[in-house]
Amino acid sequence: MVDLSVKIKNYKFKNPVMTGSGTYGYGDEFEELYDPSLLGAVLSKGLTMRERGGNPPPRIHETPAGILNSIGLANMGIDRFVNDKCFNLAKKNIDVIANISGKSIDEFGKMAEKCNKTDAIKAVEVNVSCPNVKEGGMAFGVDTENIYKITSLVKNTTDKPVIVKLSPNVTDITEMAQAAVEGKADALTLINTLLGMAIDIKKEKPVMYNKVAGLSGPAIKPVGLRMVYQVKEKFPDIKIIGSGGISCWQDAVEYFMAGASAVQIGTALFNDPMLPVNIIEDLRNYLMKKNVEKIDEIIGIAIKKEECK
Ligand code: FUM
Repeated sequence: MVDLSVKIKNYKFKNPVMTGSGTYGYGDEFEELYDPSLLGAVLSKGLTMRERGGNPPPRIHETPAGILNSIGLANMGIDRFVNDKCFNLAKKNIDVIANISGKSIDEFGKMAEKCNKTDAIKAVEVNVSCPNVKEGGMAFGVDTENIYKITSLVKNTTDKPVIVKLSPNVTDITEMAQAAVEGKADALTLINTLLGMAIDIKKEKPVMYNKVAGLSGPAIKPVGLRMVYQVKEKFPDIKIIGSGGISCWQDAVEYFMAGASAVQIGTALFNDPMLPVNIIEDLRNYLMKKNVEKIDEIIGIAIKKEECK
């Protein structure tokens, strides 16, 4: 049997296939189709201190090979999630990672403290990369000092694994990764969405309310892969969760070979909600055929092969 488990800090996830925050509701919405506890982890929607209604529509716009989204962190608020929702998920054996998004550095600390109070949350993903909000979000994630301060604060507030989700909308992703590594992050999620735009030619104006929005889907996979590779090459000890345009098991394997220890499936779920469970199965078969006993054996293998050239 192939060992697909992945350890981040002190927690062992059963397999490396997770869902992308904001693309899987709170997990239980998919229960009619399959048991979400089969997945490595389910990421919550981006949680904020208070409940948020989110941005005015349109919130999603289809593009060639992807979508633009501008949800604006619509969510139930951290208290409802921590005091109620996450228990129901944990009861069903679903490993939950809370994605938290503060308006200020201080708020990140407060939310991490709330997450720390329950065993139902297995890890915290620090979202410094949402491009669709006026306060916080990506503004934090393009500044190394803020990334460092937020990561250190959250690390000092919780003993759960801390994962920092970075923005690709920067000149050098390794500088942002370095700030998170210096802040003692246990893992990085690479990448959030790329800033994009669409114009409605009948109305002669941008389609999305905020004009710009986050591009995801197959179009961004080469960017995600490049960033995972660059960060893993520079910081071989950091765990990376690869995200961006994964729509089949081969895409996931590319991310593993570039240096990711786990992957998140997001946009592709809108086409095929079964995809994560199928990827787990296909991955297992692929590794078995290659006589690989542990998924760790292929992580970053593309970097190692390059070094041997
Ligand atoms: O608009 C949104 O809620 C997006 C969040 C994110 O990209 O993290």
